[in-house]
Formats: sequence, structure tokens, C-alpha cells
Amino acid sequence: MRYVAMGDLPPKRHTQFRDDDGMLLVEEVMGYEGFSGNESILYHLRSPCDVAEIGAFVPIEIDEWVPDAHVHRLTETAPLAPGGDPVFGRRMLMFNDDVEMAVCKPTEELDAFYRNGEGDEVIFVHEGAGELETVFGTLAYGPHDYVVIPRGTTYRVRMGDGPQTWLTFHTPGEIETPNRYRNRYGQLLEHAPFSQRDFHPPRRLQTHRADGEAFELIVRARRGHQHLSLDYHPLDVVGWDGYVYPYTFNIHDFEPKSGRLHQPPTVHQTFQGPNFVICSFCPRNLDWDPLAVPIPYHHSNLQSEEVIYYVDGQFGSRAGVHAGALTLHPSGLPHGPQPGRVEAALGSTRTEELAVMCDTFRPLRLTALARELDNPSYATSWHRAGAGARASAPAS
Ligand SMILES: [Fe+2]
Repeated sequence: MRYVAMGDLPPKRHTQFRDDDGMLLVEEVMGYEGFSGNESILYHLRSPCDVAEIGAFVPIEIDEWVPDAHVHRLTETAPLAPGGDPVFGRRMLMFNDDVEMAVCKPTEELDAFYRNGEGDEVIFVHEGAGELETVFGTLAYGPHDYVVIPRGTTYRVRMGDGPQTWLTFHTPGEIETPNRYRNRYGQLLEHAPFSQRDFHPPRRLQTHRADGEAFELIVRARRGHQHLSLDYHPLDVVGWDGYVYPYTFNIHDFEPKSGRLHQPPTVHQTFQGPNFVICSFCPRNLDWDPLAVPIPYHHSNLQSEEVIYYVDGQFGSRAGVHAGALTLHPSGLPHGPQPGRVEAALGSTRTEELAVMCDTFRPLRLTALARELDNPSYATSWHRAGAGARASAPAS
């Protein structure tokens, strides 16, 4: 990330800084990896430690589904009814110790502020628009934005009109742009599929001075949610600067790469986390060699699980997979185009597909919701006799 400064700051860090009334402001250093990672420095009206009352700690319970069969899976999220709020409306589908993936279709705002104290978050906005009111300022989001929220960010979501459909990620690690896209100073390189200009920090900083009013803060930590009561507005920052802040990146600002022959999924990588990646499959011209096969070859990712969330467009020469569907191609099983799909794709020059992929190095576990939304015909959709129930081949 690049350096950003918003609001009022003293010329030197760790020095006395007062507001117009002469009140000493509270400096908070928020950083990763002890004091060795990226950090920001925020100046508050009140101590961020100030808690009026301690509420309940509610553990997070995962209703796991351990399937009888190890097969490729298709999860249909489109029929899932909207409901819930932007935090507790996240309905987990797959998880491991590195990442949790959920779908969220919130219909109501959370009547509290939220802070994830044990992980970074990514929200891919399939549909919907609104604003995140955060301790770093207000961040607008819209369709097809990735919203990246560092741990420790206090925020609430103000939703705009219309439906909201999100794919969400939580990781106990850090969400970053891939190392290979950055030079030794951290700047994005010319061959990266995006530049610093494509990443949008909060646009405006509003300092809330609602001292004496009651607000609830819910902090995720230790696999649960701690409820706290405050008697001041937690978005009370007058200024901040640094490299840690929430931002948006729109998937249409990802510059796709094509080649004379088929390019591997790695060219679509957008973010990295611990033992997983997030990739963006965007509309692009296809392979231009006269003998090119412009759809994926069969492949066995021997140490990966592949999840693709289909967003929009025509998914190559495939049928049966719609927007809002997720495919899971677990380790141990090769995958590739279904019978007849390679022949049908020959000569294609362009794809309009839009999809988000998450590859994990460690096996994914499933939830009861994944069982509820599971389309069992997908597992045999490569079988020649199963054409009637045939679903899609994956994009990668
Ligand atoms: Fe794949």
C-alpha cells in the first residue's frame, strides 16, 4: 500500500498534539508484526481503550459438514434468501485455518460498530453499493469492488438502496498484493496487473464528537465476539497517516493477461494471504495462436483446493453454472473441460467471464450451508453419459 495522510496531524510523531480547545489528543499506533510491519498512527479525541461496560462474549460456532464422498462440488448461492446484517449475515460455506469464505446478502444494518481483532477481511461486492464508516474515514463501495479491511479497523456499513450480495473472506493472516508485483521498496512494478492508483483509500474523514452518547462495539477475537459499551462515538479520529487503512480495488481495474497459448491461473492473481491466493478472472481476449486451445487444460493442482465464484458474463463454452455459483475442485482429483467443450471452444477469440477464485494450499472444510446448497450432479458432469445433468467446467 502507499502512504496516506488524512485530517490534522502534528509535524512530529509522538509529540503533544492538541485540538482547538487545547485538549491533548490521544495518539494510537496501529501496526502489524510488532513494530516491524506496516503501521498507521491515529489521533483520537478519547482513549480507544475507554470502555464503559463489558458485555457478553459469544463464541463463534461452525456447523461443519463432513461429506460422505470426496468429489468436485457445485454450490448454488443464488437461491439463498437475503437476510441479516453486514457482519452476522455472513454465512460461511468453506473454511480452514487460513481462510473462511462466506456469502452475505444483508438486508439490515448492524446497530453497532464492529472490529475484527483476529483477522483481515475482504468483501467482494457482487452487487450493491454503500459506504463503510471507519475509524480511517468513509470508504465508498460499489459493484465488483474488493473491499479490504485490515484487522483492528472499527467500522460499520451504511448500505445503499437495492440488493447486496457479497462474497466475504476472513483470514488470520494478512491480505497483501503478491510479492512478485512489488519492488524492494513496496511500489508496484510495471508488469503488475494494477497500479497504486487503482487502490482507493477512504475519501473523507469525519470526526464524530458525540461525547456522552451510548454506542455498542463488537470485537471479534479468540473465535468469538466480545460486546462492549462505549459512552462516546468510536470514530473520533481527527487525523491519521501511514500504510494501514481499508481500501477498495475494483475488479475491472485488474488488467488481464493473455498469451499466444493458454495462460495459467497465476496471471490472474490479485491478492495473497497465508497459504491461499485470490485471483480475478476478467473479460479478455483469448489465446491467438492458430493451434491454441483457448480453454484450460486438465490439471491436477496437487497441493491446492480451487474455489471459483462466478460473478457475471458467459463462462466460456459451459452450461449449468450461473452467477452466484461456487465450484470447489479439491486436491486429489484432476479437473478440466467437460467432454466436447474443447472442440466447441476452438477458434474462440474472447471471453466475457467474470469470476473470483480462491486457491488454498491446505484442504477446505465445508459447512452445513454448503450441504444445503450442494448440487450433487456436478460430481459426474464429466461423465459422457451424464450430459443431461452436465454442469460447468471450471475456468482454471
Ligand atoms: Fe483449476
